[in-house]
Amino acid sequence: MNTIQKRLEKLRQQIEDHNYRYYVLNEPSISDSEYDALFRELQNLESEHPEFIAPDSPTQRVGAPPLEAFGTIIHRVPMLSLENAMNKEELYAFDERVRKILNSSEEITYVAEPKLDGLAVELVYVDGKLTNGSTRGDGITGEDITRNLRTVKSIPLRLRFPFFDEKEKRSPSVVEVRGEIFIEKKGFIQLNKTRLDRGEPPFANPRNAAAGSLRQLDSSITAQRPLKFFCYELGYIEGKSFDSHEEALQTLKSWGLPVNPDIQVCQGIEKATKYYHELEEKRESLPYEIDGVVIKVNSEAERNKLGARSRSPRWAIAGKFKAQQATTIVVDIEASVGRTGAVTPVAYLEPVNVGGVMVSRATLHNQDEIDRKDIRIGDTVLIQRAGDVIPEVIKVILDKRPNGTQPYRLPSTCPICGGDIIRPEDEAVARCQNISCPAQVKGRIEHFASKRSMDIDGLGYKLIDQLVDTGLIHNVADLYSLDVEKVSSLERMAEKSASNLINAIDSSRKTTLVRFIYGLGIRNVGEHLATVLASEFKQLHALMNAELEQLQNIDEVGPIVAESIVKFFKSDDNNNVIQQCLDSGIELEPPPPDYSSQKLSGTTFVFTGSLSSFSRNEAKMMVEAIGGHATNSVSKNTDYLVAGPGAGSKLTKAKELRITILTEEEFLKLIES
Ligand code: IVH
Repeated sequence: MNTIQKRLEKLRQQIEDHNYRYYVLNEPSISDSEYDALFRELQNLESEHPEFIAPDSPTQRVGAPPLEAFGTIIHRVPMLSLENAMNKEELYAFDERVRKILNSSEEITYVAEPKLDGLAVELVYVDGKLTNGSTRGDGITGEDITRNLRTVKSIPLRLRFPFFDEKEKRSPSVVEVRGEIFIEKKGFIQLNKTRLDRGEPPFANPRNAAAGSLRQLDSSITAQRPLKFFCYELGYIEGKSFDSHEEALQTLKSWGLPVNPDIQVCQGIEKATKYYHELEEKRESLPYEIDGVVIKVNSEAERNKLGARSRSPRWAIAGKFKAQQATTIVVDIEASVGRTGAVTPVAYLEPVNVGGVMVSRATLHNQDEIDRKDIRIGDTVLIQRAGDVIPEVIKVILDKRPNGTQPYRLPSTCPICGGDIIRPEDEAVARCQNISCPAQVKGRIEHFASKRSMDIDGLGYKLIDQLVDTGLIHNVADLYSLDVEKVSSLERMAEKSASNLINAIDSSRKTTLVRFIYGLGIRNVGEHLATVLASEFKQLHALMNAELEQLQNIDEVGPIVAESIVKFFKSDDNNNVIQQCLDSGIELEPPPPDYSSQKLSGTTFVFTGSLSSFSRNEAKMMVEAIGGHATNSVSKNTDYLVAGPGAGSKLTKAKELRITILTEEEFLKLIES
């Protein structure tokens, strides 16, 4: 292997190690930007040397050319489904049956797992490499979705430590595992938001979103979806066996397959039932959706004795939770106005209990969604609640539609300020055009005061309502001219709270440029872009005066974002508010120099032997200028050894540790690139 190949292999190894720490152990050891830097170095090096790109390189998860249709894959061991239990009694009945067949009066050891509400898939690893991935299908044959599954970041493309069997001195050549592909609640909300912004219909729930993403013939679309994977069963394995499910899961985890950390071993059905109840209680706060728990016999020997019926094993059962759907009547539809002036229709419902929570409102997203589902006031609708996602109307029960209903249309004037509501032709969202609309003003102040912007403790939406409604403030800058006297004039406001608020406002004066830019609430500029803009411009005025072209030249800024930035700073109103903020003593700390965008950031160099074109000290400065470090001794953390003539023990050690060794010339080339 030459130097480049070694460096490629080292980078791939490092990235895989970090993936393992992140996705499997849940213990990342580097920051996102350090990870990005490694990834970018690998990408750059591979694009310079395409002849060395490996199919299982971490960069190869972006998707492959679209397919005409999916092929089929026969499961070596059929993928069965599960019998259901609807309550505690049915779980106890399951335990009775198990103990009867096993002829046991002892407590059975169970493994209790969250029943993820996603899609079952099978992964096949041959000699440690992911070769096939498929859907469950009819349990016997499934669809070949290998290309799509390769884009899922938590699925390892190769297994770690090819599991050498100590006794037989060989590794199992085939490992088939089963698990669930799903989308977390957070990712789902974000995904739907993006879709609605683009005028695409939102997914009804995370499960549909995951299913739709896996069914893409174009895997580059799948690659953009926030799919996750947890492994929960072994299908077939050659040359290895396990005594228990617990042991199997532990081993799969050590091989790099993510296993749900919420899985528990339970001694006896009573403990397993307790887990079922506890998880139902915790259901809302879990990051993913579940529709029940799965209770499985732990011992492999007992599983074998129990065997299977035609469609489901006798050693497992699904304990289902109460439904998260219900039907109710739409009493009214109202338009609510957000911070950006976006008008969102909301359905007011006859209150109904959905999976233990009373629901009286549901979002209808936008006019297109109302039209698509034809939702009218008076309709009986099926609604669904999904974790902390706002309840949604799934569909209208047309049989129950009363006579005389009318299709619903969003109002053409703002219900808050009476301003015009306009929906640009190519957008899905209608907006109130009046930037002084109180709904928008309040929304902007709330955003400005929020934790991740100026972090003004204690300034919530109720207080903002009062401050705006009484005319004490009209914009974010007015916050800085408040005093204890003014604030304590508000109803139900004690002097102590007023002075706390003034103190909080005061301390927000010292802040960072990133927070301030983010707090301005420029359309399409979230926290990440605020960081990008701050590191690019360093000073607020430089950003305020930036030309369209200059903005578009920044890597992560597209034409739409560039335009909304320019438009924002063109407005006299906005400039006045910003000036007023600065005049009131706001100090903006520019971001520290950021090396994370450079491909050698974080890499460690050691220099040894005699160097001819630069001194040791110059070498050190060159390395630091690109965000790397230079150290004196070689260790496993060293990335490169630059060796000149006469190199001795450091060179020997670097060779032992398989560290990339560069000549002076190679070093200069590397940092120049
Ligand atoms: S075990 C033979 N474990 O539930 C046992 N399934 O109806 C096979 N599921 O299609 C399944 N979480 O999609 C198992 N921890 C878990 C699960 C789980 C979700 C799904 C899976 C399967 C369905 C069974």
